[in-house]
Amino acid sequence: MKKDYIMPSLNDARKRNKEVSQKLLFSLDEKYKQLGEGKRYFIITHGCQANQRDSETMAGILDSLGYTSCNDEKDADVIIINTCAVRQGAEEKVLGEIGALKRLKMKNPELVIALGGCMAQEEKTVETIMEKYRQVDIIFGTHNITSLPKLLYDVYTSRKRKVEVFSKMGEIIENVPVTRFMSHKAWVNIMYGCDKFCTYCIVPYTRGKERSRDKNDIIAEVEQLKLQGYKEICLLGQNVNAYGKDLGIDYTFGDLLNDVAKTGIARIRFMTSHPWDFDDTMIEAIRNNANIMPYIHLPLQSGNSEILRKMNRRYTREEYLALFDKLKQQLPGFAFTTDIIVGFPNESDEAFEDTLSAVDHCQYDNAFTFIYSKREGTPAAMMEDYIERSVKEERLQRLNEKVAYYANKNNQRFKDQIVEVLVDGISKRNSNIYSGYTPENKLVNFSASDVKTGDLVKVKITEVMSFSLNGVMIDKDH
Ligand code: SAH
Ligand code: SF4
Ligand code: F3S
Repeated sequence: MKKDYIMPSLNDARKRNKEVSQKLLFSLDEKYKQLGEGKRYFIITHGCQANQRDSETMAGILDSLGYTSCNDEKDADVIIINTCAVRQGAEEKVLGEIGALKRLKMKNPELVIALGGCMAQEEKTVETIMEKYRQVDIIFGTHNITSLPKLLYDVYTSRKRKVEVFSKMGEIIENVPVTRFMSHKAWVNIMYGCDKFCTYCIVPYTRGKERSRDKNDIIAEVEQLKLQGYKEICLLGQNVNAYGKDLGIDYTFGDLLNDVAKTGIARIRFMTSHPWDFDDTMIEAIRNNANIMPYIHLPLQSGNSEILRKMNRRYTREEYLALFDKLKQQLPGFAFTTDIIVGFPNESDEAFEDTLSAVDHCQYDNAFTFIYSKREGTPAAMMEDYIERSVKEERLQRLNEKVAYYANKNNQRFKDQIVEVLVDGISKRNSNIYSGYTPENKLVNFSASDVKTGDLVKVKITEVMSFSLNGVMIDKDH
């Protein structure tokens, strides 16, 4: 590997210190300002909401350099792939995608292909790309998005491949341009990184240490979004309930929720709340503010205490269920969803049955279910695993059937009810059908006329399915 490549190191990424992260302000060097004149870009986004928000930052930076976006990768002068490393399947998809881009590169040698996101933080992946995927010109890490102008400039001027991936924990950079992909719903980062180190998970390595943004920057951003006409914001963090802890201040996520609610923006959501640190201030803030939506995502991962311990989830089955019951009781009418992993190394039949019984207890509105995927560099990758793939697949199937059963059961409460829907747009399949979400985050397809994205409308639910509701619009709020 050449010396001028800044390569990732999972070993360095594991390190944590107690220092408060520095806040820096982004500024664009004059010499890059015309870089994209007459050039077009296309961004492919994989992974979670954090990545979607990062892609909006990449778009914002490219727009500020004079590039314009295009709707077809064939028309692009720059293609960025923003990748996810959370499971093997996600990585394989990206490698296939890069493989397919080779043809475009052969047709147009001027095309610049850049790979960013969580896969770029893994040394093995970067080595593979350097060796086998010569069509990739730039590899930039999750902490290096603001280096895009420089990296593009360097590639144009030197025609050499560039790699810049910092494994250090990263700062907080404010003032970065953003081009949001939606005009009615917005992602708002409240913190970056993760310090939980669940043993199966790559995120703490790819995203660095927990760093909270200044509350004033967050509130100003929400106020600005409201002024721009946004109806919904989602506060983003790998563990939003850890907000503020790294700053050493006496201000928690509950306080932030109260302050964000005061902006008066119509709908507030947050992602993800870890069962750890879900405190009473948070519950009160959620209960007392009508614009905080009645929907909570509370990842379970496993219903067995021994597996939870091996996962380093920091709670037992009993603690999770006690918290769940408390939330259910104090937040009536709320929808609850979860994440579950089956087939963690050496998960026994009994342990899996515990997961099923926890699902029976909680009766979630929905659950995102995954087969455990081994992530190199994580502690779980070193654990012995004698469970056959076919057993894991069977477990997933059984779990999914249960999840669908409760999803359907929960949705029955909406039959013949009038619900408020924030309109996302016209259905892809039928131009008389619109779609959007209720406060409980239920997908609704409904017939209507003369509505547009961002309208808040009243819909009467006529039909209930496991994962969506059908209805007819009866009124518009504005
Ligand atoms: N910070 C969030 C999770 C982000 S990753 C949280 O803690 O809730 C989203 C989900 O992917 C996780 O909740 C977990 O269920 C799943 N996941 C993470 N690593 C995984 C792995 N190695 N194999 C399978 N699923 C995994
Ligand atoms: Fe991964 Fe656990 Fe952090 Fe969530 S809390 S991002 S699952 S390490
Ligand atoms: Fe994937 Fe990175 Fe998000 S690994 S889930 S894109 S934080």
